[in-house]
Amino acid sequence: MLSQDELKTLVGQAALQYVLPGEIIGVGTGSTVNKFIDALASMKDGIAGAVSSSVASTERLLALGIPVFDANDVGEIAVYIDGADEIDARGCMIKGGGAALTREKIVAAQSRRFICIADESKLVQTLGRYPLPVEVIPMATQRLVRQFALLGGQAKVRVEDGQPLVTDNGQHLLDVTGLQIHDPLAFESEVNQWPGIVTVGVFAHQRAQVCLLGTRSGVQKLAF
Ligand code: 5RP
Repeated sequence: MLSQDELKTLVGQAALQYVLPGEIIGVGTGSTVNKFIDALASMKDGIAGAVSSSVASTERLLALGIPVFDANDVGEIAVYIDGADEIDARGCMIKGGGAALTREKIVAAQSRRFICIADESKLVQTLGRYPLPVEVIPMATQRLVRQFALLGGQAKVRVEDGQPLVTDNGQHLLDVTGLQIHDPLAFESEVNQWPGIVTVGVFAHQRAQVCLLGTRSGVQKLAF
């Protein structure tokens, strides 16, 4: 019986098949992506480098000798590899458990294909069981808490070492529980318009085209 960590290793390695020789690869953030980055080191001489979605992933890539480019210095990226906190049967996701959702959405938007790598615990029927991460401008926090309450959600500021967590972009995060997101596209469009929202962790406009799901019987490929 494979552990969750072993399932992450399995899908991290399986994602190598989507890395195109000579190209720049988009790289997400999180424990599953860390497995992918470690596997990517084995073919680092065959790629041009990476565009990274967080300081943490950048540091890991550089430590393994993989060059990291600024998103502004490259054009369209062929493939973006990232994990998810939840993924549904259409490839829509909740992301941001690792606090990197804004840069993840930017790199995903710059990429032609989003390949999601996840263990089977992440597959859901309806998004919302996992607390929805939302990056916010701090002065709008309490107003946004009230906005989410009107949708039936309870929003809490994410805290680290007793202080509000500060993202790579210098902003704060809300984690919203109690939501059932039946129409991810409409939900993302609506929340995106609220003043003070930097990024909502629903990835419906930037959904995955493929998910490599780590299951007890091996890697299952879901195409959307
Ligand atoms: C980080 C993310 C991650 O992709 C998501 O939290 C999944 O992480 P993990 O692979 O550690 O379960 O969105 O912001």
